[in-house]
Amino acid sequence: MSSSPTTPGTNQSWGGRFSEPTDAFVERFTASVGFDQRLALQDIQGSIAHATMLARVGVLTDDERDAIVAGLTEIRGEIERGEFQWSVKLEDVHMNVEARLTDKIGITGKKLHTGRSRNDQVATDIRLFLRDEIDVVEAELSRLREGLIELAEREADTIMPGFTHLQTAQPVTFGHHLLAWQEMLARDHERLLDCRKRVNVMPLGAAALAGTTYPIDRHVTAELLGFERPAENSLDAVSDRDFAIEFASFASILLMHLSRMSEELVLWTSAQFDFIDLPDRFCTGSSIMPQKKNPDVPELVRGKTGRVYGHLMGLLTLMKSQPLAYNKDNQEDKEPLFDTLDTVRDCLKAFADMVPAIEARKESMYEAARRGFSTATDLADYLVRRGVAFRDAHEIVGQSVAFGIREKRDLSEMSLDELRQFSDVIESDVFEVLTLEGSVAARNHIGGTAPDQVRAAASRAREALTALRGNHP
Ligand code: ARG
Repeated sequence: MSSSPTTPGTNQSWGGRFSEPTDAFVERFTASVGFDQRLALQDIQGSIAHATMLARVGVLTDDERDAIVAGLTEIRGEIERGEFQWSVKLEDVHMNVEARLTDKIGITGKKLHTGRSRNDQVATDIRLFLRDEIDVVEAELSRLREGLIELAEREADTIMPGFTHLQTAQPVTFGHHLLAWQEMLARDHERLLDCRKRVNVMPLGAAALAGTTYPIDRHVTAELLGFERPAENSLDAVSDRDFAIEFASFASILLMHLSRMSEELVLWTSAQFDFIDLPDRFCTGSSIMPQKKNPDVPELVRGKTGRVYGHLMGLLTLMKSQPLAYNKDNQEDKEPLFDTLDTVRDCLKAFADMVPAIEARKESMYEAARRGFSTATDLADYLVRRGVAFRDAHEIVGQSVAFGIREKRDLSEMSLDELRQFSDVIESDVFEVLTLEGSVAARNHIGGTAPDQVRAAASRAREALTALRGNHP
């Protein structure tokens, strides 16, 4: 029995069993080419590797492989030059590229899809794409960390108030504060590289869901594509998107950190704090209030955190309760992932450019630390060293602070006699601990705020950064 020709108007890749054309709305509704064309270069890269492997195992002849590789290479050029005509009728990036290949090289183009399915193809493309993008994100994150380490070294001696509950607590060095940010990012960096390991596993060869009857060699394809190894299980390989969820959770934690830094930058640039100056090129003005200089860049980063959290929730919910193996739901993984990547890259770039340009207003920071009784704990520790129990010392210092508030004077501005009203163990050496410099210098242990510790921590941070980058493939 001869098969009937494909019904006109149905999809040329799968229309064989259909008796009427796809509804025009359904065609648009199910098409992904509008967004998945971003995967085109990875799609071609995957196809070249697949064809190369097929020839290696004898499924394609060398001539067929050469024609396919040459055709795909030309198509890559067309895409890069923006000449490629994308068609919604062809649904997605995979079928657009394949149809163009067949236009160009004829029947051999139709052999490319031997031993694979769009299910393993798309999963492979996203992983290749995400792996490339992770490397870009990783470079920007490193640049930001380097910027913070350098700034911290420059500001190792700069004194500012440290806060708890956003109330002045104890003096710290600005360098120490910057290195706290750096530590958050160091953990994000590790999370990113850890995520990359699980991204770098190859679905290709899983075919639609069960593997293929052709004598494929998945190790060859994996090696050609730089994957660590082929995925173990074909059902899992085509359906798993937890690598994208993992990236989105890395991104959410990173943006949470960047939003905290942003919040502090916004506060610090305000006239009320006046701790730092951001150069004009990172700020914008107001159309109505001529005096304004707004910290838009950190505000926007803070705001963009919301969409990244949203994408994480979106992806988690997309995968929830999906039965094995591939489901069309998975087509919805791309837009959130792309937007997460774009947002992360832009926010990191903004920060990496901005951080080295932060100017500390040292006098203003110093004044703020001096005003808030920030050396009160140092006075308590001094009393303890002279034999007073810590709870009693706390009470004595509390009374001294209350006196200072009434008199509008800091502890360091009181006379020895005034201080001795509250405890007669106080001697004239107390003023060494009541100075801001004495207070920070005394916290001289690993993890403490003393300027020498900040310098040592900065150099360890630099070594850790170099080591992490050196280990990564
Ligand atoms: N555009 C599809 C996606 O992004 C490609 C895989 C389609 N597979 C299928 N069996 N319909 O998920």
